[in-house]
Amino acid sequence: MKIAVAKGDGTGPEIMQSVLDIFNANQVPLEYEYVDMGKWVFDKGFSNGMTPEAQHTIEELGLLFKGPMETPKGKGVKSVNVTARKTWNTYANKRVFQTLHGVDTVFSKAGIPIDITIVRENIEDTYGGIEHMPTHDVALSRRFITRPGSLQVIKYAFEMAKKKGTRRITCGHKANIMKLTDGLFLDCFHEVAREYPELKADDVIVDDLCMKLVTRPDTFDVVVLTNLQGDIVSDLCAGLVGGLGFAPSANIGDHISIFEAVHGTAPDIAGKNIANPTALLLSGIAMLRHLGLMENAAIIENALLYTLESGVHTGDFGDKSIPASNTTEFASAIISHFGKTPEHGAKPLLPNMPVTPTMFKLDQNAMMVSQGIKDEKIVGVDMFIASSEQPEYIAKKCQRHAGVKFNLVSISNRGTQVWPTGSVYTNLVNEYNVRFESIDGPLNQQDVIGLYVSLSGDFKICSSELLNMWGDKKAYSLAQGQ
Ligand code: NAI
Repeated sequence: MKIAVAKGDGTGPEIMQSVLDIFNANQVPLEYEYVDMGKWVFDKGFSNGMTPEAQHTIEELGLLFKGPMETPKGKGVKSVNVTARKTWNTYANKRVFQTLHGVDTVFSKAGIPIDITIVRENIEDTYGGIEHMPTHDVALSRRFITRPGSLQVIKYAFEMAKKKGTRRITCGHKANIMKLTDGLFLDCFHEVAREYPELKADDVIVDDLCMKLVTRPDTFDVVVLTNLQGDIVSDLCAGLVGGLGFAPSANIGDHISIFEAVHGTAPDIAGKNIANPTALLLSGIAMLRHLGLMENAAIIENALLYTLESGVHTGDFGDKSIPASNTTEFASAIISHFGKTPEHGAKPLLPNMPVTPTMFKLDQNAMMVSQGIKDEKIVGVDMFIASSEQPEYIAKKCQRHAGVKFNLVSISNRGTQVWPTGSVYTNLVNEYNVRFESIDGPLNQQDVIGLYVSLSGDFKICSSELLNMWGDKKAYSLAQGQ
């Protein structure tokens, strides 16, 4: 079986070499095809951080094992790590956080065991990086939460929880504030939960979730979240088990999957042979299981756990009275412990049952549509205008443009209504949302364009959004105070 390997930048090549040395010493039946990705590829002029050959190899092989990669600062290029996850639709980011004996934490000292799997949506949310500045003072980000994208990751989380024999699966969200975006994600969660009655499915608002994770981490099993909240909560969980040096990550897609450590390139210690390879090794072990290489995975994981229990450590953790090992010494210690059984968390030796990473190839992009559109109508429009005038004055001007089809119903600033009712204590910025609704029945796009043209005589219109209704459901939010 062949997989693609990208060594990465900074400490990436050092820790990748240690992990591959461990794999080779255990005669892991894998061949490695090295691909060109990372900072030096950006520097050569490839704006997405990878060569076309690298992209072709990864799409052919279906699996990438990668070291951390640096995104050049101030060049306007996007992170190659995020590009890779999004381009190949690795929609589920799975991160497992377990108590590791030999890695002291507040919880290990208190005898509180931790075994939490975070499943983070990996494509959508603010990670689209779709941002605009309608005025010098205002920056906006588009947050995409979609029904097909949410269902993909949530179904993966439930299936994984079921296979793992988990008791509880929790959705972290902020649907009390973001009623349409997080509300959609939460609806999808409860919809999928109905297909898994054997699992206890519940939801927790993300701020409360953070508080509960740091006070009672042992009560959580699998937690599924949207992208940004999942990013933050998974680093919090890394802290619970000893830090980023112990946080593995699997980016799972239907065709291509990527295994990597959560941490970055650690430029401050690069080239010194002192980085901790554990997170990348744990990611590699998860990759071996993904490929059905169960026996190799168990032998290597038991050797790692045994090594940690025996007090061998790199400089970033462990008992300071025992001298720290460097990266290669740490890897050698693991190799010397093949066949040993750790006292805690020993993994059973199951036989290898190799699976091919890519089952089938695509020849066109998959269009994910979950529901047909029924009873859709346009009932108004939000016009986002640049202005530093007072709301009352803006309202007077806008009413002149409303004509016979539209009614000016509300003006808001940063999401708070300031007209027809509001408070003079609401501070304003120079971008308003002016909401027009239909006076009589559904509108068409020409009606909206007519209003747009008329209004543009008085204001710079930065953007607009249609107000849609699906049946009797409003597909838009109300302003605070509306
Ligand atoms: P970082 O994770 O590289 O470093 C944070 C701190 O943790 C540093 O003190 C570092 O020495 C330490 N550290 C990280 N990994 C370690 C290891 N294996 N052993 C011992 N200590 C370790 O985060 P930072 O400094 O914010 O980012 C550096 C670069 O990495 C940036 O260019 C960033 O874009 C990139 N990055 C790449 C990621 C990826 O490839 N998936 C993820 C996160 C950041």
